[in-house]
Amino acid sequence: MKKGNIMESTEQVRLEFLLNGKKQSLFIDPTLSTLNLLKIHFHLMGTKEGCGEGDCGACTVALGELKDDSVVFSAVASCIYPAVKLHGKHLVTIEGLGSHSHLHLIQKHIVNSHGIQCGFCSPGIIMSFFALFAMNSHPKAEDVEIALQGNICRCTGYEGIKKAGDSLISHLATVPDAELADAIVPSYIATTIEDLKSIAVNEGIATYRIPHTLEEFKEATENEEPLLMAGGTDVRVQMKQHKIPSDRPIVDLSAIDELKKIALKDGMLCIGSQTTITECAKNQLIQQYVPELSDMARLMASTQIRNVATIAGNLANASPIGDATVLLLARNASLEILRHASKAVERVPLRSFFKAYRKTALEKNDLILEIEIPLQESEKSRTSVHFEKTSRRLDVDIATVNSASMMTFAGDQIISWVVAFGGVGPIPFTVEIVKKDKPLDKKLDDTKLAEIGRMVLAQCSVIDDVRGSTEYRKALVKNHIIKHYYTQTMPGQEG
Ligand SMILES: Cc1cc2nc3c(=O)[nH]c(=O)nc-3n(C[C@H](O)[C@H](O)[C@H](O)COP(=O)(O)OP(=O)(O)OC[C@H]3O[C@@H](n4cnc5c(N)ncnc54)[C@H](O)[C@@H]3O)c2cc1C
Ligand code: FES
Ligand code: FES
Repeated sequence: MKKGNIMESTEQVRLEFLLNGKKQSLFIDPTLSTLNLLKIHFHLMGTKEGCGEGDCGACTVALGELKDDSVVFSAVASCIYPAVKLHGKHLVTIEGLGSHSHLHLIQKHIVNSHGIQCGFCSPGIIMSFFALFAMNSHPKAEDVEIALQGNICRCTGYEGIKKAGDSLISHLATVPDAELADAIVPSYIATTIEDLKSIAVNEGIATYRIPHTLEEFKEATENEEPLLMAGGTDVRVQMKQHKIPSDRPIVDLSAIDELKKIALKDGMLCIGSQTTITECAKNQLIQQYVPELSDMARLMASTQIRNVATIAGNLANASPIGDATVLLLARNASLEILRHASKAVERVPLRSFFKAYRKTALEKNDLILEIEIPLQESEKSRTSVHFEKTSRRLDVDIATVNSASMMTFAGDQIISWVVAFGGVGPIPFTVEIVKKDKPLDKKLDDTKLAEIGRMVLAQCSVIDDVRGSTEYRKALVKNHIIKHYYTQTMPGQEG
């Protein structure tokens, strides 16, 4: 059977979760999206479908997850969020906030600021506001902008919506601390925490396995060749576009806590493969040791996508323009891979991971366990890493060309300079511009920078597609080199 663009499976999977304060228990098709679950099973029509591929934010809902006895909210795009992943969570939709006769505080501010523009986008915008203010009662205007990155308006613009954000910020500044949580979060969230805790673990079904440990993962993949799915932001879009058969059995990696750890080990920062991009942006170790990964997150996709997209998914999908990919290439990261055939754990340098267009060193059922980033600390040298992305739009757009540059300085010399590029060739690649045995004076003129640009281009065959012609991409490569150089050698003067 076909539902929308996705084939329906005949096997049903158990789903227990809370929806706007009420516990729900049912069996569903594992291919069902959260958006279709709301419409088909619960007849809730408030959440809208625009693009159906995670791009527009019309379908935004708030996902509540139990952490240390409280519920933590994040915005997700319900059109590509598999309903089965709701198990054990509290889903809040537009119907769970206010009503016609009693608007929620967020709705009141949006109405009063003339931020209601079209009926399609407004529910998603309100839910993005909700997920932000539920977790941060005193956000800055910039936080509001970031929260709304994934809500695209093509009719009017964002003035009224931004005003609503400003007026909510001002209003909440007058609310006493003890009343802040209740001003935004509906009271049913606190009273249903015990219901949330009572939901038993879900192991899935044959066509949708949900391992909770690495042992269970090995067992789930022992004799099958399922598709491994992490956040599903790529997998679900590819299924919608018929690039992956939607009835393909899935092993969902997102419940394996062993894959979510971030720690320092043997001079490396090790990031578990299931770490989401949002976690990368917030984690203190990452902020301290690899701050550019946190900074890059602002330029990748949208809040709704980053909340579920994982760092390993960005590498394993083998996209030629993955944003985390180029940064990790510049940083000379390695992957720890659990090989299915040998059952051994192998360390693979990321620089030899990409083999051909959309082909990596991963074989059938191989699992990326973690990403290891070497930390180069020396009293005699200073290292700087800079990420650059050129896309047609600042928000929710993949790059035409992206790059990351890692430079190491000793005194007035550049003693090492490596730049990784995406969107130039069929696979992302790394160029060593300055080698350790041939340091370069820090002061480079335009002629030298142009020569470096030509040297980089001589090492690849530049692609040509709808995002940009070969000539345009060549110009971008040269410009990225210049931008990296000035940003890293003369911060503040890069223009
Ligand atoms: C609207 C939208 C905007 C986007 N914008 C950007 C952008 O700006 N920049 C960007 O780089 N990307 C972007 N993406 C792409 C995508 O979100 C990212 O690549 C994301 O990091 C993929 O992670 P995931 O966990 O969702 O992967 P999934 O979809 O779950 O998986 C992707 C692939 O990785 C494999 N995989 C995942 N984890 C593992 C593992 N541990 N071991 C082995 N294989 C694994 C899966 O089998 C699958 O083949 C966007 C996507 C959408 C929908
Ligand atoms: S409908 Fe556009 S993001 Fe979901
Ligand atoms: S608010 Fe819907 S397109 Fe502008």
